[in-house]
Amino acid sequence: MAGADDSVPFTPSKLYPKSDEEIATFKEMKKERSGKCFFYVFAGIVIQCVFILVFALITLRSRIPDVKVRSITVKNLRYNNGTSSASISPSFNATLVAEVTIKNTNFGRFKFENTTMSVLYGGMNVVGDTKIGRGSVKARDTQKMINLTVEVRSNRVLTNSQNFSSEIQSGMLKLSSYAKFSGSVNLLNIVKREEIAQMNCTMILNFTSRKFQDLRCQ
Ligand SMILES: *[C@@H]1O[C@H](CO)[C@@H](O)[C@H](O)[C@H]1NC(C)=O
Ligand SMILES: *[C@@H]1O[C@H](CO)[C@@H](O)[C@H](O)[C@H]1NC(C)=O
Ligand SMILES: *[C@@H]1O[C@H](CO)[C@@H](O)[C@H](O)[C@H]1NC(C)=O
Ligand SMILES: *[C@@H]1O[C@H](CO)[C@@H](O)[C@H](O)[C@H]1NC(C)=O
Ligand SMILES: *[C@@H]1O[C@H](CO)[C@@H](O)[C@H](O)[C@H]1NC(C)=O
Ligand SMILES: *[C@@H]1O[C@H](CO)[C@@H](O)[C@H](O)[C@H]1NC(C)=O
Ligand SMILES: *[C@@H]1O[C@H](CO)[C@@H](O)[C@H](O)[C@H]1NC(C)=O
Repeated sequence: MAGADDSVPFTPSKLYPKSDEEIATFKEMKKERSGKCFFYVFAGIVIQCVFILVFALITLRSRIPDVKVRSITVKNLRYNNGTSSASISPSFNATLVAEVTIKNTNFGRFKFENTTMSVLYGGMNVVGDTKIGRGSVKARDTQKMINLTVEVRSNRVLTNSQNFSSEIQSGMLKLSSYAKFSGSVNLLNIVKREEIAQMNCTMILNFTSRKFQDLRCQ
């Protein structure tokens, strides 16, 4: 019997005696395995959902594009600081050439309506402006606008201002440049969001060097 068993290992007599036990453990293993399998599938689905959610949160979130004056140069500066004659009120004229960048960190194109860039004194007196017009910036791209030319000239309101007189006499004039880019961002071509990007920079015109210094943008 034993020899026959050895020569024929796969006889039912050899397998079946332990079968009840084996089937039981096998069933248990199967149960355990299907439980594990369910767990892995479930975990996979959860991980996938988290990934999709994070992806959606990152890509479908709209951010305000960042607009900055990168550089500004002075051309043809003419000024009168009022010290040569008391009868002449201080004034100035200049042609400014600016380089402006619009940084769009969105996963979608930012389109803006026609825009005007203004140069102001004292935060509210417009001394000059220029049209930027309408345009768009590609997804996750920075658009450079060079040679934006603004003709500035002091106006009547300014020449009567005590602060303006003292500033121009000190040889330093604080100006600011402002532009409002109203438009929309088309996120992954699915969601369209309105966005307003504002440029608000200050700079100090040094009449001695005929250059701007301390250019700061918010
Ligand atoms: C500003 O420019 C005008 C000509 O456009 C000129 O007549 C005037 O004298 C200038 N003002 C100053 C302060 O240079
Ligand atoms: C935009 O353009 C339209 C027509 O071209 C004009 O009427 C409007 O005043 C412009 N707006 C600005 C802010 O330049
Ligand atoms: C910008 O201005 C500079 C100097 O005036 C000139 O060399 C350059 O060609 C201009 N660029 C554009 C795009 O107008
Ligand atoms: C003049 O400057 C002073 C301080 O620098 C400020 O408090 C005041 O509001 C200014 N006046 C005008 C009319 O801008
Ligand atoms: C005023 O301007 C004249 C030249 O136009 C210059 O010689 C003088 O130093 C200036 N005064 C001040 C206080 O900046
Ligand atoms: C620009 O920034 C200054 C502060 O640096 C703030 O007082 C001013 O209100 C801002 N202007 C606009 C139009 O947001
Ligand atoms: C203005 O420019 C002149 C010449 O470059 C420089 O000597 C002076 O220090 C500047 N003024 C300020 C307040 O930086």
